[in-house]
Amino acid sequence: MKDNQPRTIYLKDYKVPDYLIDHTELTFDLDPQATLVKSRLKVRRNPAADPGDSGLPALWLDGVDLELLSVSINGKLLPAQRYQEMTGGLLLAVETPEFELEVQNRIAPESNTSLEGLYLSNGMYCTQCEAEGFRKITFYPDRPDVMSIFTTTIVAPASYPVLLSNGNKIDSGTTQDGRLRVTWEDPFAKPAYLFALVAGDLQYVEDTFTTSSGREVKLQLFTEARNIRKCEHAMVSLKHAMRWDEEVYGREYDLDIFMIVAVDHFNMGAMENKGLNIFNSACVLASPETATDAAFQRIESIVAHEYFHNWSGNRVTCRDWFQLSLKEGFTVFRDAEFSADMNSRAVKRIEDVTVLRTAQFAEDGGPMSHPVRPDSYMEISNFYTLTVYEKGAEVVRMIHTILGPEAFRRGSDLYFERHDGCAVTCEDFVVAMEDANDADLKQFRRWYSQAGTPVLDVEDRYDEDKGEYTLKIRQHTPDTPGQKDKLPLCIPVTTALLGADGKELPLNQAGATETTLLLTEACQEFVFGNIKERPLPSLLRGFSAPVKLRYDYRDHQLQFLMRHDSDEFNRWDAGQRLALNALAALQVQFRAGEALRTPDALIAGYASVLGNGALDPALVAKMLALPSAQELAEQEGEIHAAAIIAAREFVRNAIADALKPEFLARYRQLDQRTPYSAEAADIARRSLKNTCLAYLCATMDDDALDLARSQLARGENMTDSASALGALVEFGPVEDAEQHLESFYQQWQQDTQVVETWFGLQSTSASYGTLERVQQLLGHSAFELTNPNKVRAVIGGFAMRNFKQFHKEDGSGYEFLSDQVIALDKLNPQIAARLVTPLTRWKKYAASDAGLIKSALQRIAECGSLSRDLFEVVSKSLS
Ligand code: PHE
Ligand code: ZN
Repeated sequence: MKDNQPRTIYLKDYKVPDYLIDHTELTFDLDPQATLVKSRLKVRRNPAADPGDSGLPALWLDGVDLELLSVSINGKLLPAQRYQEMTGGLLLAVETPEFELEVQNRIAPESNTSLEGLYLSNGMYCTQCEAEGFRKITFYPDRPDVMSIFTTTIVAPASYPVLLSNGNKIDSGTTQDGRLRVTWEDPFAKPAYLFALVAGDLQYVEDTFTTSSGREVKLQLFTEARNIRKCEHAMVSLKHAMRWDEEVYGREYDLDIFMIVAVDHFNMGAMENKGLNIFNSACVLASPETATDAAFQRIESIVAHEYFHNWSGNRVTCRDWFQLSLKEGFTVFRDAEFSADMNSRAVKRIEDVTVLRTAQFAEDGGPMSHPVRPDSYMEISNFYTLTVYEKGAEVVRMIHTILGPEAFRRGSDLYFERHDGCAVTCEDFVVAMEDANDADLKQFRRWYSQAGTPVLDVEDRYDEDKGEYTLKIRQHTPDTPGQKDKLPLCIPVTTALLGADGKELPLNQAGATETTLLLTEACQEFVFGNIKERPLPSLLRGFSAPVKLRYDYRDHQLQFLMRHDSDEFNRWDAGQRLALNALAALQVQFRAGEALRTPDALIAGYASVLGNGALDPALVAKMLALPSAQELAEQEGEIHAAAIIAAREFVRNAIADALKPEFLARYRQLDQRTPYSAEAADIARRSLKNTCLAYLCATMDDDALDLARSQLARGENMTDSASALGALVEFGPVEDAEQHLESFYQQWQQDTQVVETWFGLQSTSASYGTLERVQQLLGHSAFELTNPNKVRAVIGGFAMRNFKQFHKEDGSGYEFLSDQVIALDKLNPQIAARLVTPLTRWKKYAASDAGLIKSALQRIAECGSLSRDLFEVVSKSLS
């Protein structure tokens, strides 16, 4: 691992490009083993570049795994001494400030298992260029601040009737030898990372959308023939997203055609290539029979996310990859608001905050901790993180909260207008927000540069004589790797005060009952006058900032908030705090070898929620869900895996036993035989019904398991079937589980998305998903190590969502994961580097586990020749 160490790249070293590419003309002659790529570039000296003192600098073109065939300038073949091929690219001597460069090279898409650049998925050609994949296609200044007009010609055998690229189709025909030829032109200048090409035997569904200014846009969704019936939901979602972006942000679509393609082999969720989005099949294809409600909602949000990038990402793009959150944080905020408007706002917020608290907080506290705008990286692919995406979205949300919706809109209008067609920075975004509103976000900017999760400690006091209530808030952000002694941040803390009757107290003359306190000091007091009784504070409403908030709530106060808080998020959060208190106490009892005591306060709280017919069933379902083992681990200073598992199972069983009649009544009431719909109200009903079913089955009583058996047998939709099967796998007798799994597989083996669900049900099951079974799944005929979805379902499910089996005391789970990571790194470095995450947190575990995890990690480090991706994560985790 010592020699050939990857280089660290720093934000402070940024320099504008020496040369610009005004036009990029590409021709692809497709072949699995020998695709010929010709590129013709109009190159021009960048007037903004440092002139230097020794004439024209050499031109650097990135290029990886390319076979160079020829280089010409202004139509003349270049002699070899004028250029130099080196690792990572090509250096070219330049004689004139403007010239036309022609390069020819060969690539082998069939051998490309990294799924970056041009590759084959089920026999179809597709590309993935973000962040630095274009350099695996041809030699090019592969950096986002080089924006160019692209013209792309694709030549392929007649067995690939669909040939797609960005923009508009401007020409098509047949070559003399009978192959197909199509030319596309994208009129909008873009960086190479937004380039895309697709070629295959694909079917499509088509629709149209009329924009607010009356232009008709053609919408096409391409898939393999077998999936053509799974496109409707994505198409409807797309049209909703297009309308929403016009209404909420005033953003209209800009080309005459918008295409989406579904591919089975894909590293991420989807990609926003200009006019030609490419999607992981699992994030676009759905039908009621095959997709769960969770999948329907995920598809709606990802389709919207990619569409929204057309403005926040494509029309205005990033100057460099340190600015990634400029497009991702903003676009995640946009898609979250869209989903909130389309469904239940509170439930969407609860889901997002759960991810943040479980995984982003863990990232912030781990060895890969970095700010929303990182200041260095070895491999940019490692920085498509929860911090850049999710925390980045929280940062944009806080600007929205601080400025208010109208001011935020003025800021976003100015941002899009001022920077249209440009590659810009997070700083430019903040400045636009300030300039449009005459606002000052100077201190707020620290959110972009400081890593770590701030902790707020809140104390209060009430002065009865003066009628004064005071909140004293301290903030502190822990040290993170390479960053010490953090400065105070500007933190919006949305607050209400509840009276003894559960109603909000008026906070001013005008009768406002909610206020956003702006915390800017390390310690600050906020005084409320005219308060007639000692109130109970409802703090950080709607999770107004991505922080850990500590206030010493008593159990009865949390029960009170669960019943009365008018902020639905905080109502849910009160229940979570109650559960966390109970689970923390039980862990202590477990480790002391004491008998575990029934959590009565929690059970009472849950009973009141379950009996409350006035609440949205989706919210009730969320309120009845215990924090996951992963989230519990994130809460602990030192993680004792066995204690977490024991406490959580004990609480779950206690609730199930105590409230069985109530769960049964609610299950029966919600179990209606109505045809499937993906409307929010129906999704809500199914989510509570299946939450009840899971608790019922946790009793392991046969009458409860029979409910699951009959729900599975009815097979009305995949949400109900998968929930029932999941409950049987987790709580039913093993032979029973095995038989249901087998017949489910027989029924669905032709359907890739269902098979992924089926893999996941097994790998994540605390009782059924043992290491032995997971190893068997790796040998299953439907498993492919080269398909990221399958890897995530089986290996990822086990290592990231099966806390009990993965953390077995003998360390077998850790050794298994390191074996898989080592094997994967040879095929797909990006996936290997993501999958290793659970091992990187070893320092947080109690000594015996920590030692085992560390040695599994060391074994990876010692196996030599690691990819840059895996090297960065492993070496930072061990240092
Ligand atoms: N830019 C994509 C998105 O968030 C994510 C992505 C990154 C996809 C890198 C592929 C590769 O929408
Ligand atoms: Zn994105």
